[in-house]
Amino acid sequence: MPATDADRQASPAIDAGEVLLSLKGVQKSFGGVQALRGADLEVRKGEVLALVGDNGAGKSTLIKAIMGVHQPDAGSIVLEGREITVAHPDQARRLGIEAIYQDLALVGTFDLARNFFLGREKMKSYLGGLIRVLDRDAMRAEALSVLENRVGIAIHNPYASAYVLSGGQRQAIAIGRAIDSDARLIIMDEPTAALGVEETERVLAIISRLRDQGLTLLVISHNLEHVFRCADRIAVMHGGRVTAQMRREDVTRQEVVGHIMGSRLTDEAPPN
Ligand SMILES: Nc1ncnc2c1ncn2[C@@H]1O[C@H](COP(=O)(O)OP(=O)(O)OP(=O)(O)O)[C@@H](O)[C@H]1O
Ligand SMILES: [Mg+2]
Repeated sequence: MPATDADRQASPAIDAGEVLLSLKGVQKSFGGVQALRGADLEVRKGEVLALVGDNGAGKSTLIKAIMGVHQPDAGSIVLEGREITVAHPDQARRLGIEAIYQDLALVGTFDLARNFFLGREKMKSYLGGLIRVLDRDAMRAEALSVLENRVGIAIHNPYASAYVLSGGQRQAIAIGRAIDSDARLIIMDEPTAALGVEETERVLAIISRLRDQGLTLLVISHNLEHVFRCADRIAVMHGGRVTAQMRREDVTRQEVVGHIMGSRLTDEAPPN
């Protein structure tokens, strides 16, 4: 059964929680730029972990290292106790890790069903298997059902091409596709950055709903109000390292801002 807010508060589960994914000493340079300087991060099962940090702190690079978009120069990535090397995003997906980026989420000219089943299309056959065609009705029905029942949104124009849908609807479809592919970790890079107020509320509600279904989410955000509303824990990046990881209820917004600015670094000079 998915944990509720009450369960989480009643037990120290978040601190003692089983680790789903951990990164140790991950480094990545682009030419002369050291984007990651030995980043350590723990994502625990069933939590919403917010990853915050100033522009250029290394957040996107870190998730691209998890997704196999970038190969780390050093360090390790461990999924459920097993060290993994992720050569390509398709491999991350096979391991149950899905990332949702605002822009790359959908193919604009495809409709809901095609986007939802991208790369895992349902087919139907005629004439004893001689002719195989896309089973658009089955794909559309499953997509609408997952979106309504698990993501909690209704799509009123399921035949429309993705480019006419709103940012929030596109986001919801990408999320629905991820959970329908049995993702156990969903990573979102700035899920509310380009959305209006109402759509932002919808995406925040989706995040809470998925957490209540037992999914694990790693969410990058610049918006601390959103972070404090939906995260169980907060990890802060500064200068290519994760400089703090804490439970949301143990910190104030001001303290998080201090970490983001690097003013809490005591054991080393702040990176330039
Ligand atoms: N492909 C790349 N080639 C060269 N430099 C890169 C590349 N990707 C990232 N960088 C550099 O690495 C550093 C970290 O960038 P990254 O995009 O990870 O930061 P971020 O924390 O996601 O920032 P933002 O909040 O602005 O999205 C920056 O100095 C950036 O310019
Ligand atoms: Mg980024």
